[in-house]
Amino acid sequence: MQVLSVASECAPLVKTGGLADVAGALPGALAPLGIRMRTLVPGYPAVTAAAGEGRATWHGDLFGGPARVLESGAAGLDLLVLDAPHLFAREGSIYLGPDGRDWPDNPERFAALSWTAAAIAGRGLDGWRPDILHGHDWQAGLAPVYLREGHPGAGVGTVLTIHNVAFQGLADADRLGSLRLPASGMTAEGFEYWGRISALKAGLVWSDRITTVSPTYAAELMRPEFGMGLDGLLRARARDLVGILNGVDTEEWAPPYRLPSGKRRHTEALRAEMGLPDAPGPLCVVVSRLTAQKGLDLLLEALPALLEGGGQLALLGSGDPALEHAFREAAERHRDVAVRIGYDEGLARRLVTGGEAILVPSRFEPCGLTQLYGLRFGTIPVVALTGGLADTVIPATLAGLWARAATGIQVHPVTADALARALRQLCALHGDAETWKGMQRRAMCHPVGWERSAGDYAALYKALTG
Ligand code: ADP
Ligand code: GLC
Repeated sequence: MQVLSVASECAPLVKTGGLADVAGALPGALAPLGIRMRTLVPGYPAVTAAAGEGRATWHGDLFGGPARVLESGAAGLDLLVLDAPHLFAREGSIYLGPDGRDWPDNPERFAALSWTAAAIAGRGLDGWRPDILHGHDWQAGLAPVYLREGHPGAGVGTVLTIHNVAFQGLADADRLGSLRLPASGMTAEGFEYWGRISALKAGLVWSDRITTVSPTYAAELMRPEFGMGLDGLLRARARDLVGILNGVDTEEWAPPYRLPSGKRRHTEALRAEMGLPDAPGPLCVVVSRLTAQKGLDLLLEALPALLEGGGQLALLGSGDPALEHAFREAAERHRDVAVRIGYDEGLARRLVTGGEAILVPSRFEPCGLTQLYGLRFGTIPVVALTGGLADTVIPATLAGLWARAATGIQVHPVTADALARALRQLCALHGDAETWKGMQRRAMCHPVGWERSAGDYAALYKALTG
């Protein structure tokens, strides 16, 4: 089975969020099942630098400039790098210009990625052709359109994975020509979305199958509160939509201790690094983009409940300037709050390792990876009851505790009051040494790897290729 995966980011080469981790991990997870997955990624500076001068197998004029596809084994991945300097050779953020806004030509940049994917699937690359074209998010949404319209009869199955329906890849209708899209598709049944072009919607209409990254999010997507206008379309395609839970690379994310007791010195080291004093309550950590999705404004409101319970907060994140400012201010006001604004993979890991609880109060969360790291490291997750968070944490309800099954705390509804209640419960559980240790031990045993989901993807590919 040959699969072409198409993603706008891929760890460890280029990452802004969990999409990169998943795109980077899938090939390794699928290989033992006899699936070869090659990953097509844009040639951003970090990617072309890592890729080196691989075999260049395709040249051409691509959306306004010359381009080639480089084959590379960088970072142990089987990469196809779309080297198109006019689109991707830009310093800074991969999606945003220096003014902090989307690059104005983002629709064309990722249309070019999708166009190339369709060309490889339709015509092959140096004699290689995939059985399945598997795209991720809106950046790959146009690939099935280009494949079906430009290479009819290619016989390649298409899958689109929704990692986050909030990002739709919208473009004004007058870009139809520059995006090389058929005018006939500009309808409510096609890729038209409130008068604009939606790359995500295109992918959802034109793909053979749709997946998303947790079963609960798959169900939520079909409801108006979560579907962001695409819930009707997804309800109509319910039979082709499946939620397959993300995993994490359990070798890369392996705790440096086997038992909860081994954690203590890491907690102390983390306190020292973050400038926090000793405290009787739990050291809570957050590693997150600071956006409305993540519900961290609710944490600011609920913070007093944690601090009154003797707990502490250490946060690493970046994003919305107002949230960055508010957390910096909270750190200035409270000696038990430490905040680092920025992106730092080493610190992210030390937070997960040394933290005693990890907070993820998201308003919606397709899957979420940091609660999975938390489970693996015995860092008790406190999560909103939504999406993948609901699917991965067994809550410390009375039943969950009695059954000795609980691995974390779930917050419902996702409000500041409910979060404050959850933080009070967290402090109480932390004070009950036996119960706490039991939860940590169970969390550390909870399966968070890719094994099961890799099998689900394999079954999906198989069903599509007959
Ligand atoms: P999302 O993709 O919505 O941002 P996920 O939980 O799926 O959420 O994935 C986030 C990933 O990005 C995790 O691997 C997390 O550790 C990482 N991450 C988020 N913010 C930071 C940061 N400020 N520094 C380092 N890593 C971060
Ligand atoms: C998105 C979602 C996150 C998910 C990640 C990887 O960024 O916000 O919940 O874990 O994609 O699928």
